[in-house]
Amino acid sequence: MTKDSQRAKHVAVIMDGNGRWAKRKMLPRAMGHRQGVEAVRKLVRSVEGMGIECLTLYAFSSENWKRPDEEVDDLMNLMRKFIKSDLPEFIANDVRLKIIGDWRGLAPDIVAMLDDALEQTSKGKNTLAVALNYGAQDEIVRAAKQAAASGDITADTLSANLDTADLPPLDLLIRTSGEVRLSNFLLWQCAYAEMSFVDVLWPDFTPEHLQAELDNFADRERRFGGR
Ligand code: FPP
Repeated sequence: MTKDSQRAKHVAVIMDGNGRWAKRKMLPRAMGHRQGVEAVRKLVRSVEGMGIECLTLYAFSSENWKRPDEEVDDLMNLMRKFIKSDLPEFIANDVRLKIIGDWRGLAPDIVAMLDDALEQTSKGKNTLAVALNYGAQDEIVRAAKQAAASGDITADTLSANLDTADLPPLDLLIRTSGEVRLSNFLLWQCAYAEMSFVDVLWPDFTPEHLQAELDNFADRERRFGGR
């Protein structure tokens, strides 16, 4: 297989380690999340040059509501600020925003901002998919219900009803911070994805780290169950 055919078109990231980053620097957790947004921004700016067509980021899981109210508020406020400040750049750079998860359950002002951002970026070329109020088991249950309603439950009909139905197949999943688990992220889509668990805390993760993972991916032999 040539390196070109091994290019990762769809990369997903579990951005873990904001809290530990802040703790190591004796800063409040909120600073870790804030620095995490900076890492997001740098990565989004760099992916086009790396040939990535879709970057999917796990920003807020359906389990993250269990965190203290103050931290949930911080994360929601960061989301508001991020959309507001970076939307013009998405439009200018032809980035299509997509949201996966049960995001319509978020605060009404965030839902309105996202609806507007989705509309304004709908013609973009490369996709930034952000998982918000996302849980993979919930996504699969919702997709299974829709497939069942059509009377035809197969792997294909279920896939076609997932939130990611219009995205390329997932090539590479990266989790930062050294933890080795999926935490209810893209469980179905990971069936044949390559995985990298990187020992770098999310706020310290740079485009150079991503490029190293892409180089590593290019050399992996993917068999999809064959030999
Ligand atoms: C995990 O770190 C990170 C999160 C739960 C949230 C990720 C969110 C961001 C990077 C910022 C918002 C994103 C966007 C797109 C605006 P943790 O707090 O679990 O870290 P820890 O395990 O070290 O405590």
